[in-house]
Amino acid sequence: MFEKPLLVINGIGFGLSTILSLLRHSLSFRLKLLRHFMSPSSPSSSSSSEKPRNIVIVGASIAGYTAARTIAQYLLPNSPYRVVVVEPRDHFHFTWVLPRFCVAEGHEHKAFIPYGGYLPPGSLEADGGKVAWIRDRVARIERDAVTLEGSGEHIPYEFLVVATGSGATDSLPSRVPASDKEEGLALLRHMQRRIKEAKDLVVVGGGAAGVELATDAKSKYPEKNVTLVHSRSAVMHRFGPRLQAAALDGIKELGIEVVMGDRVVNEDKEKGVAVLKSGKEIVCDFLVNCTGQRPDSKLIAELSPSSISESSHILTKPTLQIQDDSLPNIYVCGDVSETNTTHPNTRSAMRQAMVCAFNVLAGIEGKKPKDVYEPHWLDGVIKLTLGLDKSVSNVGDEKTEFLFPTKERKEELMAAGAWHKLGAKPFEDDGSFLSKIKSKM
Ligand SMILES: Cc1cc2nc3c(=O)[nH]c(=O)nc-3n(C[C@H](O)[C@H](O)[C@H](O)COP(=O)(O)OP(=O)(O)OC[C@H]3O[C@@H](n4cnc5c(N)ncnc54)[C@H](O)[C@@H]3O)c2cc1C
Ligand SMILES: *[C@@H]1O[C@H](CO)[C@@H](O)[C@H](O)[C@H]1NC(C)=O
Ligand SMILES: *[C@@H]1O[C@H](CO)[C@@H](O)[C@H](O)[C@H]1NC(C)=O
Ligand SMILES: *[C@@H]1O[C@H](CO)[C@@H](O)[C@H](O)[C@H]1NC(C)=O
Repeated sequence: MFEKPLLVINGIGFGLSTILSLLRHSLSFRLKLLRHFMSPSSPSSSSSSEKPRNIVIVGASIAGYTAARTIAQYLLPNSPYRVVVVEPRDHFHFTWVLPRFCVAEGHEHKAFIPYGGYLPPGSLEADGGKVAWIRDRVARIERDAVTLEGSGEHIPYEFLVVATGSGATDSLPSRVPASDKEEGLALLRHMQRRIKEAKDLVVVGGGAAGVELATDAKSKYPEKNVTLVHSRSAVMHRFGPRLQAAALDGIKELGIEVVMGDRVVNEDKEKGVAVLKSGKEIVCDFLVNCTGQRPDSKLIAELSPSSISESSHILTKPTLQIQDDSLPNIYVCGDVSETNTTHPNTRSAMRQAMVCAFNVLAGIEGKKPKDVYEPHWLDGVIKLTLGLDKSVSNVGDEKTEFLFPTKERKEELMAAGAWHKLGAKPFEDDGSFLSKIKSKM
């Protein structure tokens, strides 16, 4: 019976230590900045003929973007280093709302947040700052350089942050399989239309994406037959039993058919059925696949095969250097990394990105990496929608779980908040960022 109060105290302690650690970094930076302005010709200052020394960041979803922002924030004005971000997408993709926007119409543009506003003001090279942003994809990582896919350019690095995530091979509703916003909008609208036209919708996968999409579809179109097929014995099986039960209740309340412990092995479009492993057939005129999400670790697998786990994640040390002593300057954060995090999400990705950033910042001063990442249950807080006007929030550790019913007032969910957080005015997109960067896509 003491578990919940202890968990709360532990949570508060975690919050405080996070704030203290940030204060420590910020204070030490201010002192360095002060010293820099008091002695203008500091030894680390670069002569203008010297080539900039690169910190390359591969992928700028929440992990890479946060790493770029943090490093840019803490680079001294005279630093010989610059940040080079390589990201194929023209906009930041806000994943949280994708299942909703596959069903609800008219919000799809809100999932594409203009890049730029999350970086410190003036930090792009085009504005005289130290961040070079390249719209391209990294095709190869070598020990001291990366090669770009579009331009073939070879970019040497001294430090590398790999943040390639887990969405590369995914389709809607988990990720938008397009690097162009316009193409992404078309894919979302196509999905909305197919769901609207379907009579017998089959949703495969009872994780968050599958549960949210199925419940949204059934609550918007109660007359449709919606079936959720999940291979495990419980939906949301990676979370605690209370969330599992709440999710199942929400699903059943809406009248969704649930098939558990079975999987779809084939979609027979001619016959109009989904065929299950058990041999059972479900009438189906549209199937949405919500399984998958494989970490995109191919680039590191080619360079350092021993750093890849069985699940294709990149193995890390607590400092978030990859587990390969011969490559101490390669860091990894976000969904692609194996960090022993129970529910990898945006919060854990951001915290990992800050650890990578502060360790890189120590590295450029010739110091050893000091910051370490420790998973914390508070990172795992999740809000699960169960239809257009219902949701539950859940957080806990292995033993104790909190569950709160929540009311979602807005059909667009927290899209506007995410735009604000990433320094963009909802929902204005004038394309100015793209005109300032190098693009080879
Ligand atoms: C449907 C859904 C809902 C979610 N809801 C929540 C939620 O409510 N709360 C929460 O906290 N988390 C949520 N998450 C989890 C969250 O989206 C992920 O944890 C987060 O996106 C991980 O970020 P990331 O930066 O590691 O990688 P990703 O978001 O996977 O992005 C990887 C980035 O790397 C780029 N990239 C890949 N390969 C290359 C390459 N070779 N060269 C250059 N760039 C490359 C990609 O273009 C992409 O921008 C949700 C996820 C899904 C799928
Ligand atoms: C739903 O499924 C039942 C049983 O298979 C079928 O009779 C009915 O026509 C279906 N409803 C729709 C809208 O397709
Ligand atoms: C769903 O997608 C995954 C990953 O791409 C794939 O392995 C699986 O076969 C797909 N399932 C169905 C039913 O299409
Ligand atoms: C995760 O656990 C493994 C095995 O205990 C360990 O080697 C690794 O360093 C851990 N990763 C982090 C980020 O702590």
